[in-house]
Amino acid sequence: MSGLFITFEGIDGAGKSTHIDALAAALRAGGRTVVLTREPGGTPLAEKLRALALNEPMDALTEALLMFAARRDHLLQVIEPALARGDAVLCDRFTDATFAYQGGGRGFDLAVLGTLERWVQSVPALPPPGLRQPDVTVWFDLPPAVAAQRLAGARVPDKFESQPQAFFERVAAGYAQRAQADPARFLRVPADQSREAVWEAVASGLRARGVLA
Ligand code: TMP
Repeated sequence: MSGLFITFEGIDGAGKSTHIDALAAALRAGGRTVVLTREPGGTPLAEKLRALALNEPMDALTEALLMFAARRDHLLQVIEPALARGDAVLCDRFTDATFAYQGGGRGFDLAVLGTLERWVQSVPALPPPGLRQPDVTVWFDLPPAVAAQRLAGARVPDKFESQPQAFFERVAAGYAQRAQADPARFLRVPADQSREAVWEAVASGLRARGVLA
């Protein structure tokens, strides 16, 4: 089997986690080896960078550099070896989150993020242009007002979760812009419906792309 790289995106509160676990179970039932991982994080170094990025105040460029530094380590140590073995890699967030949060949310320069994306995701083993991108990105699209209700009082918020709704409006617009730029990669799932209906949308979208039988 050839490797499969699926990422999951959405604003905080969009409800990715249960569906990532359900998809891992479905792929394993179909005979695939699955690697479950997340960003920022996924390696000891990247988890340390995550703790800094999510808890310490810093400017948007510093934040973006930490996200991409964590990503480079994660890509080289975990994602590329798993794809080379033919595993399915399910990654909770990837570069679209940097474009949405640091680009959309914080208003940071998208051209600089694009340069960092090309540096960090360059993999010599790939045919030109040698840029690793997810095969599919499942985007849980939830109105920020609904996400705010879901998050209220749910847990102690980190630096991003405690941002005002206007921030998440910009993050959501950032995701929409990325999806529009690469519609073949993005599977948009309307997330303002029951958990069962969301899962059905994920599963049917992935069946249509040949990821699930
Ligand atoms: P999580 O709570 O879904 O694990 O994500 C961690 C937080 O980090 C979430 O609020 C989104 C944010 N984030 C960024 O700001 N930029 C990034 O590149 C990534 C991957 C996450």
